[in-house]
Amino acid sequence: MSGDLVFLGAGNMAEALLQGVLHNARWPRERLVVTDIVAERREKLAHQFGVRALADNAAAVRGAALVVLAVKPQVLLGVLAGIRAALPAEALVLSIAAGVPTGRIEAALSGAARVVRAMPNTPALVGCGAAAICAGRQATADDLAVAERLLGAAGLVVRVAEKDMDAVTALSGSGPAYVFYLMEAMLEAARRMELPAAVAQPLVYATIKGAAELIQQQGLPPQELRRRVTSPGGTTAAAMDVQDRRQVMAALVEAMLAAHRRAGELARG
Ligand SMILES: NC(=O)c1ccc[n+]([C@@H]2O[C@H](COP(=O)([O-])OP(=O)(O)OC[C@H]3O[C@@H](n4cnc5c(N)ncnc54)[C@H](OP(=O)(O)O)[C@@H]3O)[C@@H](O)[C@H]2O)c1
Repeated sequence: MSGDLVFLGAGNMAEALLQGVLHNARWPRERLVVTDIVAERREKLAHQFGVRALADNAAAVRGAALVVLAVKPQVLLGVLAGIRAALPAEALVLSIAAGVPTGRIEAALSGAARVVRAMPNTPALVGCGAAAICAGRQATADDLAVAERLLGAAGLVVRVAEKDMDAVTALSGSGPAYVFYLMEAMLEAARRMELPAAVAQPLVYATIKGAAELIQQQGLPPQELRRRVTSPGGTTAAAMDVQDRRQVMAALVEAMLAAHRRAGELARG
């Protein structure tokens, strides 16, 4: 692609993606541009990554081949209105704004804009993200490949139909919070068992990471791996009995369905 890669919004996600782009996707540094209304923020990224930083979104997109919309959803429409006249007709637009449909972005631009929408998650900050992408009406197979390459520099990327974006939001977008919640429960149990936090924390973090690694490497369903650590009458069985009695699985599924419903409400505006 010839032209700049421009990040509008120099927040956490832009930082994570920039890091991935520079380390893994090897986009030429001199073609990277970030903008932010907060001077401190854009200067931080400019200094950290040696990229150009601008305050003016319209000026930033003028030479763009790819524009990443990395501002919060609440301000997105205002940002789009500001760049509409300056955006080159051939530029691809990649939105990571949660819950904003491609149709709304296309309508706020020229209508003919090529838009790819992505739903990343926060582990992208450490290169272990899980993102889904979908194409807007005008986006091509090449556009999806470009988006995949950019986000792939910060973790896993899957392609979905736009109708499935709310489900992705509920699953992997909010997903890290569910895992942190489990960690909180494990640490609270450790506290009640009078295990020092300095001992419990590394054990909990390594257990979650180890379980995730094990399932990836062995390729077995979670039920099977759970069965293998649950001997009849043993300690894990005692824990699972309580979880079954308290219907923890049903509560978790219900929680994710609530996230799905809320994602739909937010997307409808
Ligand atoms: N973090 C996540 O877990 C996650 C997951 C999936 C998707 N996303 C999406 O990723 C996007 C970015 O999230 P984030 O966590 O990186 O947000 P963030 O840290 O708040 O970054 C957005 C940045 O854009 C700045 N900004 C606001 N208005 C602007 C404008 N008109 N022009 C240029 N910059 C402007 C913000 O400044 P102020 O702070 O002063 O407003 C902030 O520095 C959001 O749309 C979010 O929905 C986030």
